[in-house]
Amino acid sequence: MEYAKPPKDVWEASFKEQIAKGAYNTSPVESLVRTAAYHMRDRHPDGDYSKLHFLEMGCGAGPNLKWAAEKGVNISGVDISTTVLELCRRNLVAAGFEKKIVKLVEASVTDVPLPDASVDGIFESCVFQHLDKKDRVKAFSEVRRLLKPGGAFFGNMLDSRHEVYQMNKDKTLPSDPGTLLLEQGGASFYLTNQGLTHFYSREDLDELLKGFSVIDPSQTIYYLPKFEAAKRGYKEPYMQSMWTVYAVK
Ligand SMILES: C[S@@+](CC[C@H](N)C(=O)[O-])C[C@H]1O[C@@H](n2cnc3c(N)ncnc32)[C@H](O)[C@@H]1O
Repeated sequence: MEYAKPPKDVWEASFKEQIAKGAYNTSPVESLVRTAAYHMRDRHPDGDYSKLHFLEMGCGAGPNLKWAAEKGVNISGVDISTTVLELCRRNLVAAGFEKKIVKLVEASVTDVPLPDASVDGIFESCVFQHLDKKDRVKAFSEVRRLLKPGGAFFGNMLDSRHEVYQMNKDKTLPSDPGTLLLEQGGASFYLTNQGLTHFYSREDLDELLKGFSVIDPSQTIYYLPKFEAAKRGYKEPYMQSMWTVYAVK
């Protein structure tokens, strides 16, 4: 059975709206870059990151890639939105990092046009969770294929303890436990209207990252302010829960 997932045109429409409002993400995801910084310091105590190559799968406007380039890392990004990729390139060039770009290309996270074992680090923030099960498994097999041995995956991913999941878990898809079909569409692209959405359990992560030498997810819980929750259709703030996943191949 086919379930709705945000297709390319939904992301395009979302970014057109976000760009018009100046509302797209311009900050690195703190938990991701903090974890990457620990990993980099541990593996390269001399602080020379100029031979490293990091990829972001679903790079958006590129704030995480910009953070890596500032540290001297060579960078690649894939995204399905033409609009946001153009914006990402403009942002990286304007910041002086054109020479750090290895590849910035329109492609799906399920089929990344880079060779096997060609990257030292992969960022993923809130992308794979909107894929159906088959594509989610494929995206993680791309992570495994693309990382060099000793390379690391840094993920910012929905946790099944998230209250949006806990409030709706009786509606989880029988064929894919942990996945909800949230109402799709609407002017703004909040979690509550992103269509097919997977909330990962610890068991999911262990299964998807099977064979990695380190699988170390940590959990962050926080509440949205009441006014922000109201914009998303909730009377009360709800508890958000995210995994920061650190995994080493
Ligand atoms: C929630 S945004 C995150 C953007 C960026 N990672 C950040 O932290 O700012 C998700 C991004 O994934 C992209 N995306 C969604 N599905 C994708 C797919 N199948 N392949 C590649 N990119 C995808 C979207 O276009 C969007 O830029």
